[in-house]
Amino acid sequence: MIPPSVLQTRQKKLIETLQQNGPRAIAINPSPSLHYLTGLHFHFSERPVVVFFSAQNDPVIVLPELEAAKLQEVQYPLHSFTYGEDPTQWSQVFAQALQAAGLEKAQIGAESRALRLLELRLLQEAAPEATVLPADEVIATLRMYKDESEIAAMQQAAQIAQEALQATLPAVKIGVTEKEIAAELSMQLLRHGSNPQLPFFPIVSGGPNSANPHAAPSERKLQAGDLLVIDWGANVDGYFSDITRTFAIGEVDTEFRRIAEIVLAANQAAHATARPSVPAAAVDRAAREVIASAGYGKYFTHRTGHGLGLEGHEEPYIRGDNQMPLEPGMSFTIEPGIYLTNRNGVRIEDDVVITTDGCQSLTDLPRALITLA
Ligand code: CO
Ligand code: CO
Repeated sequence: MIPPSVLQTRQKKLIETLQQNGPRAIAINPSPSLHYLTGLHFHFSERPVVVFFSAQNDPVIVLPELEAAKLQEVQYPLHSFTYGEDPTQWSQVFAQALQAAGLEKAQIGAESRALRLLELRLLQEAAPEATVLPADEVIATLRMYKDESEIAAMQQAAQIAQEALQATLPAVKIGVTEKEIAAELSMQLLRHGSNPQLPFFPIVSGGPNSANPHAAPSERKLQAGDLLVIDWGANVDGYFSDITRTFAIGEVDTEFRRIAEIVLAANQAAHATARPSVPAAAVDRAAREVIASAGYGKYFTHRTGHGLGLEGHEEPYIRGDNQMPLEPGMSFTIEPGIYLTNRNGVRIEDDVVITTDGCQSLTDLPRALITLA
């Protein structure tokens, strides 16, 4: 449960943003942001739930009657408007809520990946003079700065993931399929304390499959000479970890050992660069230069990392064009890779948090190529 004082601080920051330069109000529907701002959990279903925060008035929520009991735990001002099972009545309830919040003609911001046509239509019917516009940065900016409790949850998610992998490694043997390893790892994640809603199903890819950064675990059996990429994460209180390690199955090609060393050096260069006021792009550049100067630039086909928190991918994106200066509390992945198509690939992914004077790694499993089997 999120302490009421933390929720109040978050809501206050949101209101300040809305007063300064944002749209007049924000509409939030079931998403990690809804939980972040209200402490409430709602499923994304055919029955819409929307909370409206505005610069002038207390927040209002529109929700189905059958879920109204959830509001009993709320310890901040929140006016509720409930609707029944007849969808033809819903827009009327939205109209009442928008009127109570003084938003009939307002500019209302929303998260473009969360608000659906369903909610948009209801808003348009309820308040034809209001405008709904994307306001993704407003929420992304709030969520980008993690407080101590959030970092503690992420640290725990990293710890659980690492322990789960260690418990899985004895099952990694020649002849075992990627799916079998992924199944074992998923079970170990739950056994070690992850919330069952994993950030994503583990990627376990061996041999040629390891050269595909987003491979799904297959029936392919591990063979001697394979590289094995495992990319996995745990969930603690909604906060994710996202880690990748690469292993050698028996003796592997010298070139595969070499690319593993280059990726490790790129990972270290990015770690060494990440600190306050350095642009995200510089972290990407640090990793990319190591790989490019070793002659493998065109085989590093993705950005160096992505923000991590309540979502597996969020701001800040560690990309060559992102000039956003890093600041304390920002958390993201560092995950350079080299993918030799149809042959083998390597990725080494860590989760880090920017501190007042540098960057702290939440993940500390050995990064150099370990030989298994
Ligand atoms: Co990953
Ligand atoms: Co990642």
